[in-house]
Formats: sequence, structure tokens, C-alpha cells
Amino acid sequence: MSQPQHHSSPAAESPEQGAAIPIWLIVFTVMLLYVGALYFDDRGGWFHPQVYGPYNSFAELEPYQPKSDGGLFNQGKAVYAKTCVACHQASGLGTPGQFPPLAGSEWVNEVEPGRMIRAVLNGLQGSIKVEGHDFNNVMVPWNSLSDEDIGAVITFVRQNKEWGNKASAVTPAQVQAIRPKVKSHPAAFTADELLKISPAD
Ligand code: HEC
Repeated sequence: MSQPQHHSSPAAESPEQGAAIPIWLIVFTVMLLYVGALYFDDRGGWFHPQVYGPYNSFAELEPYQPKSDGGLFNQGKAVYAKTCVACHQASGLGTPGQFPPLAGSEWVNEVEPGRMIRAVLNGLQGSIKVEGHDFNNVMVPWNSLSDEDIGAVITFVRQNKEWGNKASAVTPAQVQAIRPKVKSHPAAFTADELLKISPAD
């Protein structure tokens, strides 16, 4: 007595079924939104004013970026430990009566590094006054070191805050520029000769 049942859901026969959004597209869209949200969460700064203002361009921010001479300073530290430490000491204080100090030295802390670059390239001899103390000895030339090593070690010495030095960094290009000027100078400089040279030259 049971009647044959004819189940036919209207949806199954709906002519729109063929036009339904494919499942992969839904999954893809959801994934895209998810990844986008993660990206925004990670880098968007949530519209924080420090991220979105008050600067309008990267160029405006440029002067506030940390200076990137940390590499040069660290390279110079290694050069110093190999080349200079025997005489000028790890403390930079030298040895009284023998090797003059680099810590606090007026020769090291000159605004323009021309004289210090020359002293390191060609060496130094004869009487010299450093921080009120007299020395009369000889430093051999270090011109066999590369421009980069000399720039680095001078930067390390001039910017060594632990030694109380706070002069500017010296680039390898500055050393390269002075090399031809001291090539004709036969031997180590004397302090008197250095004083006659403009430190900016
Ligand atoms: C063998 C010992 C010796 C070594 C190594 C040496 N120096 Fe010197 N340095 C001297 C002496 C000695 C003088 C002083 C020369 C004089 O009496 O005229 C001097 C002077 C100086 C001066 C100028 C005076 C001052 O105290 O500020 C500077 C700058 C300097 N040296 C830097 C360096 C640097 C940088 C290195 C490593 C690349 C180095 N020296 C390695 C012995 C040395």
C-alpha cells in the first residue's frame, strides 16, 4: 500500500546549480584573506601613527637611520688587536716615556683626520708632545695595510668612546686620497712636519 515515493529536492534540480561558485575558489579566497590578514598584522602596524606619520616618504626618514659604520669600527678593532696593541696597549694609554697614548690624544681627536692618516701611512719619528708628555721614538709605516684596514683602524681609534675619543669615522676613500700625497715623502713624518700640513688636506 505504500506509495512509491519520489524524492526530489527542488534544490537538486535547480537550474542555478551549474552556476554555483566552485569550491576551490571559495577556499582560495578564504586563504587569500587569511594570508593578507597575517601580512597586515605583521607589517601594517595597525595604523599606528608612528608607522603612518608624520613622515611622508622614506627620504624624510633617511637622516634618522643609524649610521652604518659599525662594520668599519669592528673591523678596525680587529686590525688594532693585531697591529697596534703591542705598543699603544689595549687600554690605548701606551707606555709612559716610550709609546704615546691614543686615548684622549690631540693628534687622534683632530676634527680633520689628515695628519693621523699620514702618521699611520708613513710612520712617525722624532720628538712629539702628546697630552703634555714628550716622546722621542720611532713608529714604522703601516702603508702595507689596505685602505680599508687603515680607514677601519683609524675609525676604531677615533671613535673609541671607552678611551674618551669621539672624532669622526675615516673611510677607505679618505685613506686612498692621501696615499699619493705621501708617496714621495721619503721616511716617517716628524710631528713638526705634520703640524705644517693642513689637517683638511
Ligand atoms: C712598534 C710600536 C708601535 C706600533 C705597533 C704602533 N705604533 Fe703608533 N706610535 C709609536 C710611537 C713610538 C709613536 C711616537 C713616535 C715619535 O716619537 O715621534 C707613535 C705615534 C702614533 C700616533 C701619534 C701620536 C699619538 O699618540 O696620538 C698615532 C695616531 C699612532 N701612533 C697610531 C698607531 C696606529 C693606528 C697603529 C696601528 C696601525 C700604531 N700606531 C702602531 C709606536 C707604535
